[in-house]
Amino acid sequence: MRTHGMTITRQNDVADVRAALKNGLARLRSAGVPSSTLAAELLLMHVLGRDRAWIYAHPEAALPAAEADRYFELLERRAAGEPTQYLTGKQEFWGLEFEVTPAVLIPRPETEHLIEVTLERLGEERGIKINMRTGAPNRMLRIVDVGTGSGCIAVTLARELPHAKIVATDISSDALAVAQRNAARHGVADRIEFIQTDLLGALLERNRASNETETTGLFDAIVSNPPYVARNEAAELPREVRDHEPAAALFGGPTGIEMYERLTEQAVELLAARGILVLELGYDCGDVVRATLSRQREWANVSVTDDLAGIPRVIAAERVGKPQANS
Ligand SMILES: C[S@@+](CC[C@H](N)C(=O)[O-])C[C@H]1O[C@@H](n2cnc3c(N)ncnc32)[C@H](O)[C@@H]1O
Repeated sequence: MRTHGMTITRQNDVADVRAALKNGLARLRSAGVPSSTLAAELLLMHVLGRDRAWIYAHPEAALPAAEADRYFELLERRAAGEPTQYLTGKQEFWGLEFEVTPAVLIPRPETEHLIEVTLERLGEERGIKINMRTGAPNRMLRIVDVGTGSGCIAVTLARELPHAKIVATDISSDALAVAQRNAARHGVADRIEFIQTDLLGALLERNRASNETETTGLFDAIVSNPPYVARNEAAELPREVRDHEPAAALFGGPTGIEMYERLTEQAVELLAARGILVLELGYDCGDVVRATLSRQREWANVSVTDDLAGIPRVIAAERVGKPQANS
């Protein structure tokens, strides 16, 4: 097998796990792949169906020909820019394994801050009482995840909040299919309703068509990691992102903040009084989104949380009643 100037004779050179890893690492390094050691390990683990501990405990284990071929095929695809997660079909988020395909954004660790902020805000008193005898709540928490993608946010919140019912929306039917499989995989499919719609569009229609707000529209929380990259910033994205992740998941519009404008306006109509809005922020979006919320005059208790790199990453706010005419 010849791979970019490096000849690998499968039978002789890649007869065992150690040699495969060494060759794989060299191939990815020569292609300038970031985190090449991790990528070479993950691809080998995937092909062999083994974990990292097994690979390092069995360096002499023979690599069957079919596995060696498959490994080097995946290495070539990774070297050409395909993200490791699309090659292995999975990504961990909040300690859970999620299926990912090229139809969905690969869940990012930064988005775990959105989960933290949501749980913290929902932990505050919300008038939900637990029946001491049956353990059942007097009502379910109602949450919407807008632009659910892989479903990582909706599924994680459903797992963390057994008394929550969640609506997960996305404009992409292919993304929703992945999210549905992830909900089933983690045993929460019965508490998540999936809807293909533009932001909160279908929920607004449903709510306006009915007066029974208790059973229809008003939510305790609306959360979202919306697309927030500006169209003209595409060239600055790493090739793994720009060329392989879905454009609908990345680009928010010409400036990147367009989704926030529409989403916050729609959220006002669907949140109960004291309901919370929690949004992931794009790089540099914090001030603009804060200004948008302040202009709408429907929000209180606004907080911004930084990520581990010190970048403002999550904005949260609480829905107040309609403002007084002269307030
Ligand atoms: C940044 S990704 C977030 C995916 C996932 N929630 C996560 O955090 O990994 C944005 C998602 O919003 C969806 N989306 C884009 N435009 C939308 C719209 N107008 N209405 C609903 N969903 C939209 C995309 O298909 C994509 O799945």
